[in-house]
Amino acid sequence: MPDIPIITLDGPSGAGKGTVAARLAQHYGWHILDSGALYRLVGYAASQAGTDLADGEALVSVVSGMQVQFAPNQVTLNGEDVSLAIRTETAGNAASKVAAMPAVRAALLDWQRSYAKRPGLVADGRDMGTVVFPQARLKVFLTASADERALRRYKQLKEKGITARVATLAAEIRERDERDQNRAAAPLKPAEDALCIDSTSMSIDDVAHSIIRAAESCLS
Ligand code: DC
Repeated sequence: MPDIPIITLDGPSGAGKGTVAARLAQHYGWHILDSGALYRLVGYAASQAGTDLADGEALVSVVSGMQVQFAPNQVTLNGEDVSLAIRTETAGNAASKVAAMPAVRAALLDWQRSYAKRPGLVADGRDMGTVVFPQARLKVFLTASADERALRRYKQLKEKGITARVATLAAEIRERDERDQNRAAAPLKPAEDALCIDSTSMSIDDVAHSIIRAAESCLS
């Protein structure tokens, strides 16, 4: 495998990975992989097709039928703009269920690895450093307390004019963490050599700067 520089960014939902990944990709002029979007797409496509989210074989054929295109701020699935549809809480829950199926994870492996292209890649997900890109130059595990993540999610929803209760969001976040951390297939956990950052009381800028500083020695 050619030695393409990769920074992996793993951690629970709401820790700020997406925003930090975009900052890093922009800073280095690298490609970006939002692996959560792939799981969301599978969850969405399977729900639309009425597929049982616990039927691994059926889910693999859903994956084979997916034609996906990523453009800045837009995702299309078989020609349909699903950018908003895959961001709902329902799609997030469906994603978390299909992500627990080893057959789905295996079916997405080569697809995810195909994003590793020059000049480099920032890969955002749950198992980027542990399973998909174990050779990455720098592995980051980004966390924040569940309450802080719920608060961030609440503010995001409020900006979009969607009302929600922080306590309900926190309960949902804890439930999803539980499922992601305790599944048998590629559970959410830091790689042994990961740099762990708790972003609870840090700004996105602070997080991005500390990663860029840590990357200096790994990328040269
Ligand atoms: O990051 P996200 O919220 O878009 O991810 C949606 C779901 O997909 C989440 O519950 C965990 C799962 N996921 C995963 O299992 N492995 C990844 N590499 C990325 C996401």
